[in-house]
Amino acid sequence: MTHLMETYKRLPVAFSRGDGVYLEDSNGKRYLDGLTGIAVCGLGHAHPNISRALSEQAQTLLHTSNLYEIPLQSQLADQLCELSGMDAVFFANSGAEANEAAIKIARLHGHKKGIQKPAIVVMEASFHGRTMATLTATGSRKAQAGFEPLLSGFVRAPFNDLDAIALIGRNNPDVVAVMFEPILGEGGIIIPDDGYLEGIRQICDDNGWLMILDEVQTGNGRTGQYFAYQHTGVLPDLVTTAKGLGNGVPIGACLARGAAARVFEPGNHGSTFGGNLLACSAALAVLETLEADDLLARAAYLGDYIIDALARELAGNNLVTEVRGKGLMIAVELSEPCGELVVRGLDHGVLLNVTQDNIVRLLPPLTLSDEQADELISRVVAVVNSHGS
Ligand SMILES: Cc1ncc(COP(=O)(O)O)c(C=O)c1O
Repeated sequence: MTHLMETYKRLPVAFSRGDGVYLEDSNGKRYLDGLTGIAVCGLGHAHPNISRALSEQAQTLLHTSNLYEIPLQSQLADQLCELSGMDAVFFANSGAEANEAAIKIARLHGHKKGIQKPAIVVMEASFHGRTMATLTATGSRKAQAGFEPLLSGFVRAPFNDLDAIALIGRNNPDVVAVMFEPILGEGGIIIPDDGYLEGIRQICDDNGWLMILDEVQTGNGRTGQYFAYQHTGVLPDLVTTAKGLGNGVPIGACLARGAAARVFEPGNHGSTFGGNLLACSAALAVLETLEADDLLARAAYLGDYIIDALARELAGNNLVTEVRGKGLMIAVELSEPCGELVVRGLDHGVLLNVTQDNIVRLLPPLTLSDEQADELISRVVAVVNSHGS
């Protein structure tokens, strides 16, 4: 009998070591990692820069708490603000916690404006985390079922529908913010129409709302820019991120600009672990490596290359309805459920994920070589073509 709670349907494989874009299981079998621990290990596994930074920091000092100055945290905040156009950062330990911080800022901002019951517009099919507030914000009845009562103060709109948000604005004076993913991740790599972010920015400006972007999955270079909004000219008021920021060391961040950056005052929010020395040393090494190796441009190039190749090579498979993506967030959509392809992937030595029952999702490392990208393509094509056989 296991002493682990039954929260996960785990696959029957355990990995004992990682080496760049490959993982090795306890029997010595190697797998090309097309998923990176769900968009976390963007630099691959056992990256020497990350290993070095962590081991040096571990031999110096791990944790002091936010009762004291943490120069590494300030340095990381400076670099993130420089990269993003934001003014200030709160560090947490996960994506959900980064989103909790953004939700609390939006509510406090509302209260300071005299709105007693501030509401946040959130989207259908979104995913923001598993804490009570982020679960409420998440657009999945399946994830929410059984955890009622959910929180009040959230209003839902369909994704990619500007008119629906504008209508909420006309009918609901309590709205203070819109919170959304620039590309739905768990929702199936759904890319909104051109102009969507600009449209939401405009609605937020017209109504005096905060624009909150959840870049937990899309951030840290994955789509070919540091943040996905940087493909547009739009600046949000708040951006949250986590996953790839620490390349496997838990860290989350809520970045804010302008008035939103000045909402929290001492005592309003906090975290024992958030932004400790170990996590910040990992994140600083991630940022340095992304820049030194020009990995944002590489993610954009690899994404185009892999998406084109998958579309071409799967063109003859009439169950494949679409290959799409942005940078290294890639989806192969089938016309029928294909959950068994995750296990087929293991047989073919490639890690991939199936989301929404019928969408094969790839979130490979930004460090793939050209040869490794070709290997990923041929393995994924073989796995997808094995469906139904
Ligand atoms: C867009 C988005 N937001 C938030 C989260 C939650 O992050 P975490 O699991 O680190 O709490 C996820 C995780 O998949 C995500 O994809």
